[in-house]
Amino acid sequence: MMDENSLYEHVRRRRLHVYENGPKFHGITPGLDASKPPEWYDPVAFKHAQKLFDKYQSILSLTSFMGLILGLMSDDEILRILLSTGNSETVDKLFTRYLSTIKHIEDWFRYDPFDTDSKSFKSLKMVRTMHCKVADKLNNNQTTNEQNAKQINQREMFLTQGAFFGLSALIPKQIGYHRFTQKDFHSIFHFWRVIGYCMGIEDEFNICNGSDEEVVEMCRQIYHEDSLLKIRQCAERYPMSRAVHNAFYGYIMTFSYSSMMHYLAPILNLDIRLYPLTTFTEWFEYQLFKLTMKKLYKYSWFIKLSNRHARNSTKNARKKRKKIVKKLQKQFPDQNFTLETYPFILDLNNNNKF
Ligand code: HEM
Repeated sequence: MMDENSLYEHVRRRRLHVYENGPKFHGITPGLDASKPPEWYDPVAFKHAQKLFDKYQSILSLTSFMGLILGLMSDDEILRILLSTGNSETVDKLFTRYLSTIKHIEDWFRYDPFDTDSKSFKSLKMVRTMHCKVADKLNNNQTTNEQNAKQINQREMFLTQGAFFGLSALIPKQIGYHRFTQKDFHSIFHFWRVIGYCMGIEDEFNICNGSDEEVVEMCRQIYHEDSLLKIRQCAERYPMSRAVHNAFYGYIMTFSYSSMMHYLAPILNLDIRLYPLTTFTEWFEYQLFKLTMKKLYKYSWFIKLSNRHARNSTKNARKKRKKIVKKLQKQFPDQNFTLETYPFILDLNNNNKF
């Protein structure tokens, strides 16, 4: 184990290396043979993570959802790419987009990523193809001046990979990870290391490449030394996070955006005044969210109940997808997110300089 200073320095150097060099490389390693596990693949740890998903689906899913919401607030470059495809244009499109993402994640947690006949392998291939198509289109449209930074590059892959599990490394006890052991966390990090590999992330830029304490420190530094500065500048002006939440609230998400963020804000050093509780329902949901995260997730009976709720609500949302899309179109007719109208407020030129 490294002492605190060397750990900090070691991780800081690696993080800055990713920020400086990651943008130069395509997010999908050229020539990747995704049917072949990397030499560091540990099937026991990977399968253990899959068992954890079976046991704690609601906790792991909520972590990725909250990570996504924060991630959408913190990186202009990624946001610009998401906006460029039009699939995040309206609340109903966000619903369709992220309902599909949930299905992909479920397949990764259930099947063998290296078995070419499995749902996981097919899903990973499909996502790589989507990334490649979007990246190629954007890269071909770039002027020669801009071509130093690739679109969907290794830096962006590194940050997005972290968004899926980073909060579990950063604030585990505050978001329900009471029953998780060191071995459990190791397996989760290993799982995301493998998924990152399958997405096309080079080992050099894989956020989970390193000891568990390095992964935790990396997530801490990314959040506290980079993302937080950006989120603080723009939280109240970045409406897509709220919109993703609105898309799922009442279908898969039990808690409103304000109640969730009101709880998370002080833990994550965000300004709680940006997330006021304006109605009794919001106040009640906040109390319930706090109780769930701090206490109820300690009990296996509650976790089972919550998993059942997560599975049923996702299944229902899939079944009623068309109806929900229509309802969201009527409910949020004026919410539109395009590159031209999105309220970016960060200085693009400073976005990478940390
Ligand atoms: C480890 C990193 C990543 C994972 C696990 C991931 C996961 C996914 C998944 C599951 C989908 C399929 C969504 C669907 O079915 O509609 C998807 C699509 C997509 N992803 Fe990623 N992604 C990652 C990194 C990134 C990055 C860094 C960017 C942009 C900079 C990006 C941009 C997109 C875009 C544009 C699509 C097509 C759907 C759309 O238009 O939004 N992804 N990704």
